[in-house]
Amino acid sequence: MGHGIAQVAAQVGKYEVNMRDVEQRFIDGGMSMIRDSLQRFVKKAQLSEAEMNAILARIHPMLGLKEAVSNADLIIEAIPENLELKKTTFKEVDGYAPPHAIIASNTSSVSITEMASATKRPEKVCGMHFFNPPQLMKLVEVIRGARTSDETVETVLNIAHKMEKETVVVKKDSPGFIVNRILIPALNEAVALHWEGVADKEDIDKAIKLGLNWPMGPLMLLDYIGLDTTLAIADVLTKELDPKFHPTTGLKQMVKAQMLGRKTGKGFYDWTQK
Ligand code: 3HC
Repeated sequence: MGHGIAQVAAQVGKYEVNMRDVEQRFIDGGMSMIRDSLQRFVKKAQLSEAEMNAILARIHPMLGLKEAVSNADLIIEAIPENLELKKTTFKEVDGYAPPHAIIASNTSSVSITEMASATKRPEKVCGMHFFNPPQLMKLVEVIRGARTSDETVETVLNIAHKMEKETVVVKKDSPGFIVNRILIPALNEAVALHWEGVADKEDIDKAIKLGLNWPMGPLMLLDYIGLDTTLAIADVLTKELDPKFHPTTGLKQMVKAQMLGRKTGKGFYDWTQK
């Protein structure tokens, strides 16, 4: 989601954005998806070529973490859902970022309070959870960690509004926040229905699209989100909240088989041709 958030910040918020990743190929992939997305807006005459070029000029792709954050006012982390990795990264970012900078996380489920504890500025750490694709989805959940200050929450809400997002405040750092606590069990059950052979994948998706008016069915949505990401969230909900959230066998098997959805070309659907 990092490239999508970078795009929204540069396109709608008109911010200068340092977009950092760990390998050049990820940076190149992100920039290419940003260009594709901007082209769609240009095609619909919602952006001019000149505006597109100005947006691209506001995004500065880079590999160095120090270079990326040492001049930043707000850092939005969007790395994999792994607590240890997040804590290490937060500690490193805290060492390089200016004292006034806010460090926000786009985590789907990892504890904001625990990540904040890896820094010397827990009052300036909060959750800023976007939805996929960030270019189109209107919501941002702003999550308060145990030590997040009112000022940090206010600032992050203002920035999200500048990016033309609607916001909700999650007052307690509870796993899954609002949306994923409701969404992940639904996706998990869709996998179970498929795994048990109760219905074909197309019919499971059709039922939920037409029966509940979802824009896409749950299995297609799983392919978009990534089955590994969904499993990671289900694991956190199970461990931190209640065993009832436990991931189904089907979900675990598909992750073991690297059938992660769009990102590996194969999930419930075949993405190699798209
Ligand atoms: N950038 C710019 N424009 C884009 C785009 C992008 N990345 N992706 C799609 N579009 C545009 C298309 O060009 C198209 O424009 P048009 O209608 O003017 O031609 C329009 O958006 C619709 O796209 P499509 O026709 O390809 O497909 P859909 O009508 O299905 O819309 C969708 C795409 C908005 C993604 C819609 O399917 C949707 O809302 N799906 C559900 C997404 C969702 O639930 N997201 C939340 C996931 S949970 C999450 O992120 C939390 C995490 O923690 C797990």
